[in-house]
Amino acid sequence: MAKSKIAYFCQSCGFESPKWLGKCPSCQQWNTFVEEVIEKGNASVPAWKPASTSQQRANKPVQVTDITYSEEHRVPTPDKEFNRVLGGGIVPGSLVLIGGEPGIGKSTLMLQLALNMPHQKVLYVSGEESDRQIKMRAERLMPPPPPKGGANSGNYTGLSSIEAPPLGGGGGGTCYILTETSTQNIFKQIESLEPDLVVIDSIQTLHSAHIESTPGSVSQVRECTAELLRFAKETSTPVFLIGHITKDGMIAGPKILEHMVDTVLQFEGDRHHVYRILRTIKNRFGSASELGIYEMMGEGLREVSNPSEILLSHRETPLSGITISATLEGMRPMLIETQALVSASAYGTPQRTATGFDTKRMSMLLAVLEKRCGFRLGAKDVFLNITGGIRVEDPAIDLGLAAAIISSHEDMPIPFKTCFAGELGLSGEIRAVNRVEQRIAEAQKLGFNQIFISKYNLPASGQDKKRMDLSRYDIDIKIVSSIEEVFGLLFG
Ligand code: TYD
Ligand code: MG
Repeated sequence: MAKSKIAYFCQSCGFESPKWLGKCPSCQQWNTFVEEVIEKGNASVPAWKPASTSQQRANKPVQVTDITYSEEHRVPTPDKEFNRVLGGGIVPGSLVLIGGEPGIGKSTLMLQLALNMPHQKVLYVSGEESDRQIKMRAERLMPPPPPKGGANSGNYTGLSSIEAPPLGGGGGGTCYILTETSTQNIFKQIESLEPDLVVIDSIQTLHSAHIESTPGSVSQVRECTAELLRFAKETSTPVFLIGHITKDGMIAGPKILEHMVDTVLQFEGDRHHVYRILRTIKNRFGSASELGIYEMMGEGLREVSNPSEILLSHRETPLSGITISATLEGMRPMLIETQALVSASAYGTPQRTATGFDTKRMSMLLAVLEKRCGFRLGAKDVFLNITGGIRVEDPAIDLGLAAAIISSHEDMPIPFKTCFAGELGLSGEIRAVNRVEQRIAEAQKLGFNQIFISKYNLPASGQDKKRMDLSRYDIDIKIVSSIEEVFGLLFG
């Protein structure tokens, strides 16, 4: 019998220790160490093996000038939002992690993608649902299948796999479902099926025979990911991993996964709202600040290609406490409605609640308004809300929120068709924001009459002045340098 090895892992950060510890030296969390049995050297069960036998080819150093480079060949998906977050399409051999809270729609997103990939053989491995459950979901997601006899159908009969009918609209791609949790069995099926794309739902349900601990434990998750990583790199097959997020927002099983994969996408949103956001957290093949927006419908996720229009309400009369902010997520300008409600506090301690916005930053905004502008907000309840269940991290939303708070406090509505883009400094100055021209252009496109921007966004030298020509916009651009100036212009 092989000698079993025991190690202790921090369940929060994955730190490995030979003995139990009360406090993790890596992430400083208490009581997170769990004993896991790791058994190695069981040669009878092979992990992923490449088709070629030249596995031990050692690499030699090459001069950087000698490396030939060809433009990264990407496979575009039919989903434009998904292409955007990936940086233009699926890179062959990439390992992509999709994280998100349970029930947010990760399985829906990936199954929808698997069903719609054109000219691709997709293997969807599920360790969570039975093939019947997946079929039921697939039926909701796809239009009725075309008559039998699709491009790839019928030439594969895997043991525990069922075949989803090829999709008419998707261009003849085929999706195979495999309900399996052992990586060795998955690789066996992969070898006979030779898929072009593999989806794993989810990495926490997989287990490898090389490791004895239970599925979902740190060592299992790490080993299974490592095996899939080797498979992806050696066969140039892209692999998508679904990963659950723990309650404190970490990808469970945990941070180590983020280092191993090429791309980390986070699927987020408020479960009670229909909008879902797919955010790039890390991307080795593109920008790491991209954002895709979806709407959860009865028949799956729908791409939202023009977010501003849905995030703005179409109100007839202006109301106090409501402003529009010109924000930017990644390269994408978005106009979002920001709301504030300021009311006299009924209890001793005033309440401060923010939805979709950092509460600490809200306290800072309130302190600036109190100290620099003399508004007495200390004894008031303040509620902030960003509509659509969207979380905004762009600091350019500060100015819009500050205006909303004062508008509600004074009960004076902000003029119609006005929007804001500026960061608020501690001294009450309006600071510059990035890509202001894109924000102005988006506001103009959506028919706004005026936009408030920071004076510091204007170029100082003559050369830059030519580059940024504000006279080509029809929208009225209000250039402000302090918060008092904004209120002067707004409320007189
Ligand atoms: P699911 O993809 O199972 O979430 P995850 O894999 O992230 O745990 O999504 C489940 C939710 O999505 C569930 O609340 C029902 C909803 N849903 C729809 O609204 N429309 C649909 O077409 C589908 C398939 C699911
Ligand atoms: Mg799921």
